Amino acid sequence: MRKPIIIGNWKMHKTCKETIDFIQEVEPYLNDHCTYGIAAPFTALKDACNHAQKLVVAAQNCHYEDHGAFTGEISVGMLKETGVTYCIVGHSERRQMFNESDEAVNLKVKALLANGIIPIVCVGESLEAFESGKTNEVVEGQIAKDLKDLDTEDIKKLVVAYEPIWAIGTGKSATKEIAEATIATIRQAIAKMYGDVSEEVRIQYGGSVKAENIKDYLAMPDIDGALIGGASLKADSFKAIIEATK
Ligand code: 13P
Repeated sequence: MRKPIIIGNWKMHKTCKETIDFIQEVEPYLNDHCTYGIAAPFTALKDACNHAQKLVVAAQNCHYEDHGAFTGEISVGMLKETGVTYCIVGHSERRQMFNESDEAVNLKVKALLANGIIPIVCVGESLEAFESGKTNEVVEGQIAKDLKDLDTEDIKKLVVAYEPIWAIGTGKSATKEIAEATIATIRQAIAKMYGDVSEEVRIQYGGSVKAENIKDYLAMPDIDGALIGGASLKADSFKAIIEATK
């Protein structure tokens, strides 16, 4: 019922030329089992959208205001002009390094939905919270704030990514059982707020996903894809991931 969605989050990697080369190399390998996409840096989004056919293109951040004195920021309207259809919000790197709050994430989600761009809302706990058994508490709190006051119809379109911070870029991935349990908790938290539409929300796992483990995650009932950092950067590695999802 929910089509899995696999997005490569490139973070601060790739020039325009590198982006185009990657897309041209990967496009012929795409299949219809999943939705595949890339979250490219702002500067490469327009080129990415012009060259991608099957791949969906996501931004990695946005500002929630339409315009104004926000030096260095990019509005949702500006993103829309590039042709992107998705935008990551609340990635833990932005929460930790750029002080992105749940309140800001909520405003960004609303601005994106109002402009027809699908938010990929990232949540996840620190190592400390994980080790002290507070994972559910943390993700439930984030969901309650990040998805506050939305239209039920809009909830269906959302993508949520569960990314335990301790599994990002560490090579230490959450087991498929841990990922499944937390993602089921996230779905229940959405159900508590919005009811049965929670069944339509695609919830990804992210954190050291690669060709060798993606199948395990996709086999779990509540896991609807992956948000992939390091292993999405090389076309060969991304092609191996695509191959593994068949
Ligand atoms: P890695 O796949 O490199 O662990 O990164 C995960 C991530 O942060 C995706 O958004």
